[in-house]
Amino acid sequence: MEIDRKAFLDSLGGADAISRMDSEARADALEHQMLSELNSAIEAKQGGVQKEVRKYPTAAEVEAQIETRSYRAGAGFLIVSRTGETVKKLPAMPANSTLADFFKLRFMDTANHVLQSANLAMKNGMSEEIVLACLLHDVVQEIIRTDHGWWGAQLFEPYVSEKVAFAIRYHQALRYYADPSVGYEYPDLYRQLFGADYVPPPYIEATYQMVRKHKWYMEPRMVAVNDLYAFDPNVVVTIDPFLDIIGRHFKQPKEGLGNDGSPVAHMWRTIMRPDQPL
Ligand SMILES: [Fe+2]
Ligand SMILES: [Fe+2]
Repeated sequence: MEIDRKAFLDSLGGADAISRMDSEARADALEHQMLSELNSAIEAKQGGVQKEVRKYPTAAEVEAQIETRSYRAGAGFLIVSRTGETVKKLPAMPANSTLADFFKLRFMDTANHVLQSANLAMKNGMSEEIVLACLLHDVVQEIIRTDHGWWGAQLFEPYVSEKVAFAIRYHQALRYYADPSVGYEYPDLYRQLFGADYVPPPYIEATYQMVRKHKWYMEPRMVAVNDLYAFDPNVVVTIDPFLDIIGRHFKQPKEGLGNDGSPVAHMWRTIMRPDQPL
């Protein structure tokens, strides 16, 4: 998907403001812009009313807005509306909610992107574990965006293999580092938008160095490979093609996610009931 580069650069505050943003902020701004445009394009295609594309704030605006906004940028899409609209009442969830129920009823902002990513991974002949990791890799951004690789891995850890959790946790760091052996170049788009001197913060660099030497390096790498291009407004993918893989690799608790007493059940309940005050 082509994004409107000039509008995007302007929305970030131009070259000077961009030079003051750290790499995480720049990449997240880009990813957010693409998610927004994808969702708008799909809504338009399905005959809905196209919402105005949400603009990511400029670096200068971010600084200026911190003390004027009622939320912080790390707040999840489900928690805080980015459009300024009032939030809508959420549909009730079944008593024994499954992962598929969460996809249908709660992962409103992230589902299009991760379904496309999983679809791409499947087409590219990836293992079922990598397809699953692609399917899950960004959905935690519904409740929290900061360090979403780490939060995402934690959300799924009790229900997936160690390898799948590893892939989710580290996809966040690997997207900045090229690997020509699998055709993953440092994205041209990042270069055009952010300049060639783009240096990730030290914890991301240290994580990359660790993962690069790990025996499971290719797991998160393949999520990154099937992530970057998973923004195509002409493709609408449903959860259905992935139900078999979920059945084989996701340990769905019979009590329902959120009711199973796992160490992360509270995170699922938060997604289920984000209007609960305490
Ligand atoms: Fe991500
Ligand atoms: Fe992603």
